Amino acid sequence: MADRYLSFTGTAPGRFLTRRLGLPQPAELHRWSAEQPRLRGELLHLTAGRSTLALSPVLARTGLTPGSARPAAVVLDATGVADVGALDGVHAALHPVVRSVVPSGRVLVLGAPLDPEDHHQCAAQQALEGFTRSLGKEIGRGRTVNLLRLGDAAAAESTLRFLLSPRSAYVSGQVIEVGSGTVTAPADWDEPLAGRTALVTGAARGIGEAVAGTLARDGARVVVLDVPAAEADARRVAERIGGTALALDVTAADAGERIAAALPGGLDVLVHNAGITRDRRLVNMPADRWGPVLEVNLGSVLRTTDDLLARGVLRPGGRIVATASIAGLAGNAGQTNYGAGKAGIVGLVRSLAPRALAGHGVTVNAVAPGFIETRMTAAVPLLIREAGRRMNSLAQGGLPADVAETTAWLAHPASGTVNGQVVRVCGQSLLGA
Ligand code: NAI
Repeated sequence: MADRYLSFTGTAPGRFLTRRLGLPQPAELHRWSAEQPRLRGELLHLTAGRSTLALSPVLARTGLTPGSARPAAVVLDATGVADVGALDGVHAALHPVVRSVVPSGRVLVLGAPLDPEDHHQCAAQQALEGFTRSLGKEIGRGRTVNLLRLGDAAAAESTLRFLLSPRSAYVSGQVIEVGSGTVTAPADWDEPLAGRTALVTGAARGIGEAVAGTLARDGARVVVLDVPAAEADARRVAERIGGTALALDVTAADAGERIAAALPGGLDVLVHNAGITRDRRLVNMPADRWGPVLEVNLGSVLRTTDDLLARGVLRPGGRIVATASIAGLAGNAGQTNYGAGKAGIVGLVRSLAPRALAGHGVTVNAVAPGFIETRMTAAVPLLIREAGRRMNSLAQGGLPADVAETTAWLAHPASGTVNGQVVRVCGQSLLGA
């Protein structure tokens, strides 16, 4: 499962040879660790157009030192770009500095919410999207480029901290919208989930295991749910992270009831991660490979969500994070069942998010992983696996930790203004928008 090509290009002869052959140049990504929790370099704050965003105090709290010599993060405030002429300011600000951004650094463009009454503002702000995605595809060296649309910097603090940290190493080419409103800052930003309870489905291994571990690192008491056949693994994970295991098939008719019974004190974070594949082209796909995929990946997610909201198990301030996939956004040959189920997750999130927030104080978002190094992708035939790894701007697969960090940001108590978002964790995969 190890990415030998990435190790090879990390050596001097490997780099020389692969460059000469014009092959992809993945760079070792700087991910979060307790020893290196911050980006290695300075923060450069630039502005294009006339901005009214009170950004500086929030940026000061990221812990990054302002400077321009070795920027690890360049934040371009383009919220004031309201017409095509003002886009020149984007070029003028970033053209001279892009080269100096350190490997695994960040370029973060800040845009304003689109104003439906002003087509000039919409054109200029939408232009930022094409700009961001294009720069993401050319910047290289493990550097990421994202666009954050916001109206209020304080309401976006958890998002700014996430995007300007090693936690977002595999998130690139994304457009994220954050609303306005009052947010609850945690007492301790290093343990934002202290005192909260989280439940992660399919957490005995793979991405779910990493999500459970990351939420526990952030202070949550975690319930590790998986099928009865995986109970021993679920127990091992629970023991390691100081949580509890729950052996349950999420497709069981009484799944909601049994989850509620296991959580008498209520729930703050619900992560729908359990998922299966039964790949076949549609012409060769019998109904017994179709039904279970829709049932595990979508039907059970809808049922347990409805049930836990109706029972009031999810407390106000709660967070639901569901798992989509780029296969649900772009489609994938051999995965009509899986693509349908994962696209259904997107529909669920977009529709439920505003109502769940208004009615229950609960946000609903999704992560959409690209190629992530797990047992699921290790089973993919070698050539398709190698193509999957390289067909993204970072030219490598992501790790379960990358999906886990994104989930932890969405689960954050200060992320109450992030709602209805589908955030791809795909290294800017070439598949889909
Ligand atoms: P995995 O196969 O390694 O782990 C999935 C876990 O879910 C297993 O522990 C399994 O026992 C559990 N599970 C399956 N059916 C269940 C059920 N009915 N009730 C309870 N638990 C059940 O998969 P991986 O790679 O960790 O994927 C996790 C999620 O991420 C899935 O939803 C998958 O579709 C999604 N995803 C993964 C990608 C990847 O590249 N690995 C890409 C895009 C999405």
